[in-house]
Amino acid sequence: MIFQKRGPLKGTITVPGDKSISHRGVMFGALAQGTTEVTNFLQGADCLSTIRCFRQLGIEILNDASSDKVIVHGKGLHGLSKPSDMLDVGNSGTTMRLISGILSGQSFAVSLNGDESIQKRPMSRIMTPLTQMGADIISIPGNGCAPLAINSSSDTPAKLKGIHYNSPVASAQIKSCVLLAGLYADGETSVTEPSLSRNHTELMLTQFGAQITSIGNTATIQPSPSLTGRKINVPGDISSAAYFIAAGLIVPNSEVVIKNVGINPTRDGIIKVCQQMGADITLENVIDNGGEPVADLVVRSSELKGTEIGGALIPTLIDEIPIIAILACIAEGRTVIKDASELKVKESNRIDVMVNNLSRMGADITATADGMIINGGKPLHGATIESKSDHRIAMSFAVASLLAEGETNIINAECVDISYPNFYSDLGSLYQ
Ligand code: S3P
Repeated sequence: MIFQKRGPLKGTITVPGDKSISHRGVMFGALAQGTTEVTNFLQGADCLSTIRCFRQLGIEILNDASSDKVIVHGKGLHGLSKPSDMLDVGNSGTTMRLISGILSGQSFAVSLNGDESIQKRPMSRIMTPLTQMGADIISIPGNGCAPLAINSSSDTPAKLKGIHYNSPVASAQIKSCVLLAGLYADGETSVTEPSLSRNHTELMLTQFGAQITSIGNTATIQPSPSLTGRKINVPGDISSAAYFIAAGLIVPNSEVVIKNVGINPTRDGIIKVCQQMGADITLENVIDNGGEPVADLVVRSSELKGTEIGGALIPTLIDEIPIIAILACIAEGRTVIKDASELKVKESNRIDVMVNNLSRMGADITATADGMIINGGKPLHGATIESKSDHRIAMSFAVASLLAEGETNIINAECVDISYPNFYSDLGSLYQ
C-alpha cells in the first residue's frame, strides 16, 4: 500500500474497542454461569480467534459485527467440552497464553496451534509455571513453542495445585495464564512480577465474582468461585489511539479529538511519555467505566523533544514502543529506550524491524540489547517498509509516511486487520 506526505489532521475519531479487554470478555464469559454481553467488542482478527476457539470448545457465542455486540452463553468453570480439532489461535499470543491456563484445568486432551508468527513465540514462559502447578502441557516440536498439547499424556482429570510464581518478566499474558489456572487449583495461587503489567484480568475477573487481591506487583486468586455472567462495555483501545495521538502531534497544525479511550494506569504510558516529550494532550470527560477509566483525548501539534524511557514504565506502553520510535525520530534531541527486550518476542522482533525500516527512511537509530537509541530531528524520506505482517509496525509507518518526503510503500499493510480493521479509512477520515 502506497502512502504520501499529507497536511494537518482535523476532527474527531472513535477508535475500536480494547483488544485485551475484548479477549477477556469472551473468555471469562465462557467460564461464567449465564449470559455475558460484551458491547464495543473489537472485531479484529485476534479477538475473532478467541471467539473461534471457545466455539470449538462448545460455547455458543453470537457476534453481531454490525453493532459490535457479542453474547456469550457461559457454561460455568467446568462446562467446556473437548474440541474435535486442534484449536487455532491465529496470530494471537493473548489467546494462546490465556487459554492454556484455562485448558490446564480441564479433564480432556486438547492441542493448539496458530500462524507462522505464533509458532516462533516463546511458550515456555507459561509452560514453566503451569508445570509447577501440576499441569500436563508440552511443546509438540520440543522447542518451547507452539503447537502445544495439554492433558495428552494422562487419562486422569487434571489436578492443579496453587503456587506462588515469581515471574521473571512483567507480562500480563503470563500473569493471566497462571491466575486462570488458579481458578482450578486446590489452594491459593499468586503471581509476582518485576513491575506491574496491565491488570485487566484482575479487574474483570473480580467483576465476574472471582476473589482476587492485588498488592503491589502481586496478584492472588482463590480457587473455584462460581463466576457469574455480566455486561462488559469495552473502552476504546489506547494502543489504537496511540497512532492518532502521534499523527496529531507530529503533523503541523493538527487538532484531533479521540473519544472514549481507556486510560487504565497500567496502559497509559504513551500519554505520560508524550507529555514528557512536550506534547499538548488534554484529557476531557474522564469517567469510570466499570473499573476501567476512560477519557476523551484532545491532541494538538507540538514541538517534541527526546526523552529516556525504561523501568516500570515499559509494561505500561509495551505495544506503543514502535510508534514512540517514530515520535523520537521527529523530536529534537536523543531518545533512549531501554529495559524493553520483550519487544524481540512480539508479533515480530520489533527492535530489529523498527531500526531497519526507520534507517531506510533516513533516521539516525541504533538497536541496543534491550531497546534503541534515536537521534531525532533528521528529515524522513519515503521507503519500502517491511511490516513483517506485524499490525503495529504497519500502523506506525503509516503515521511516519505523513511527514516523509516521497512515497512510502508498506508491504502487507492489510495486517492491521489483527487489531484495527478500519485503520486506514479512519486515518483518512481526519483529512475531510
Ligand atoms: C496483552 C499483554 C501484552 C501485550 C499484548 C496483549 C494482554 O503482552 O503486548 O499485546 O492482553 O494480556 P505480554 O503480556 O506478553 O507483555
